[in-house]
Amino acid sequence: MSFKNNTIIETRVLEVRELGGPGKRRWREILVEYPEISFGPGQFVMIRKDCGPTCWAYPYMLQRSTDRGFTVCAVENSSLYEAEAGTPLVVWGANGRAVRPGVDTVVLSQSATLFLAAPFLEAEPRCRQIVLCDPADRNFLESSPSILPVESVEEMARELELARPGAVVAALNVSVLLELAAAWNRPENLPFDVFAATKISCGVGGCKSCYLHSRSIRLGIPVCCSGPYLPYERVDFEMDCRCFHTFE
Ligand code: FES
Repeated sequence: MSFKNNTIIETRVLEVRELGGPGKRRWREILVEYPEISFGPGQFVMIRKDCGPTCWAYPYMLQRSTDRGFTVCAVENSSLYEAEAGTPLVVWGANGRAVRPGVDTVVLSQSATLFLAAPFLEAEPRCRQIVLCDPADRNFLESSPSILPVESVEEMARELELARPGAVVAALNVSVLLELAAAWNRPENLPFDVFAATKISCGVGGCKSCYLHSRSIRLGIPVCCSGPYLPYERVDFEMDCRCFHTFE
């Protein structure tokens, strides 16, 4: 088998590991054979189970690399959740735009989107992380010393103001993101990249299923190429409010 970035690869699952998850969530780490892949935090890979023409491909956020390949997080009901060592896969990527965190970056997430934030902490373990959670999720979250759990958007906004970050990356459901934007006195010019959870079908700019409206780009924003983390100001949340997936 030969591996080369940005081509379609036939490969397989090497290992599956139970990760647990906040509250009742059950997540699994899937290690996929692809030793030559290179990627940055925020990029994703398209993965299709190799089960014939009726199988769809789905985007998976790249988590970390090993000498044998890359890992992704499979949440319950995702296409890879029941995969086992040896399951054949078709893969293309890395896709999208990497967002490099610095030591002064603050990463925001919710219990349900924690796995989307994880690649930034893998790339820069010193960056701080604020997670909006239910009280029942605290046990799981407090096992990680880099996580500051908060229980309201107002508390998240207050902690952000105290932290005085150099940049912020947010993996939040859109309703929470908009509440935060209203509650947080965000400094002008602070880099603020947000996860745009649109429908990604091809992952490479060909099908237009992921496009968002843009005031400055007539054809719109290809989230699979320019995102999925996009500068907050580039997204017209009012116009595109129906496009976004909510993580539970
Ligand atoms: S997912 Fe097909 S163009 Fe973006």
